[in-house]
Amino acid sequence: MQIEIFEDEQAVAQTAANLLANQLATKPNSVLLLPTGRTPLLMYAHMVELVQQKQLDLTNAKTFNLDEFYGIGPEHPGSYRQYMERVLFVPAAMPTANTVMLNGAATDSVRECADYEAAIKAAGGVDVAVLGIGANGHIGFNEPGSPFDSRTRQVRIQPETRAANAFLFNNKLEEVPETALTVGIATILEARKILLLATGESKAAAIAALINGPITEGLPASSLQKHPNVSLLLDKNAAAQLNTNEIVTTEVERLAHSL
Ligand code: GLP
Repeated sequence: MQIEIFEDEQAVAQTAANLLANQLATKPNSVLLLPTGRTPLLMYAHMVELVQQKQLDLTNAKTFNLDEFYGIGPEHPGSYRQYMERVLFVPAAMPTANTVMLNGAATDSVRECADYEAAIKAAGGVDVAVLGIGANGHIGFNEPGSPFDSRTRQVRIQPETRAANAFLFNNKLEEVPETALTVGIATILEARKILLLATGESKAAAIAALINGPITEGLPASSLQKHPNVSLLLDKNAAAQLNTNEIVTTEVERLAHSL
């Protein structure tokens, strides 16, 4: 696991955007698996800047998203579809056909999830999965207890995760859906490369457990220890519970790596 620690969230975001720009320059039709939440907002802003400066071309990229609220449609202002349209798809002029997301209004959620898995496979699998992390160690909407062999499915969202998402619903907790559709942990682990972004002190304990803790379904992000090509991009607050030895080691690793 490669760990990079940055001064602040701007540097995390810039690095993530640059890594994705390199990926797209090497393979213009890359398949990306993308996150939502507050953490990646700055990364998307940098990606849009790179697009405007013609240093990033997303027109041939295919994107899937990690998750979507269930019970609200893609037109709902709180949906992740609307979030993605606002922060990336529209400003980066991405063709709608290339931006695939789970439909939270699908009546048959089992079928919707099976079709999503099939679409990812048909696209050739994920080249780069970009992840955030919940303070409880969730990835996508895979909450603690999610099986490591889980696939795309409907899940119940934990109260603290609903609270963390209330900003999308005018801070009205009661309006945050109680369930969601999410890709599974097995689906995430099949990505060729995984980039996890974490910023802020509230993520420090989850990050320390991800890196040093046991591999356990109690902390879904610990499953990443099993993956051969993971980079963690952290600001110093999210890295606050790591010790210096790890940082020195990983700095050496960093030099030997690129996306
Ligand atoms: C939501 C998303 C996750 C994301 C998490 C972290 O729950 N479903 O994919 O990683 O939020 O959010 P934030 O970046 O706002 O802390």
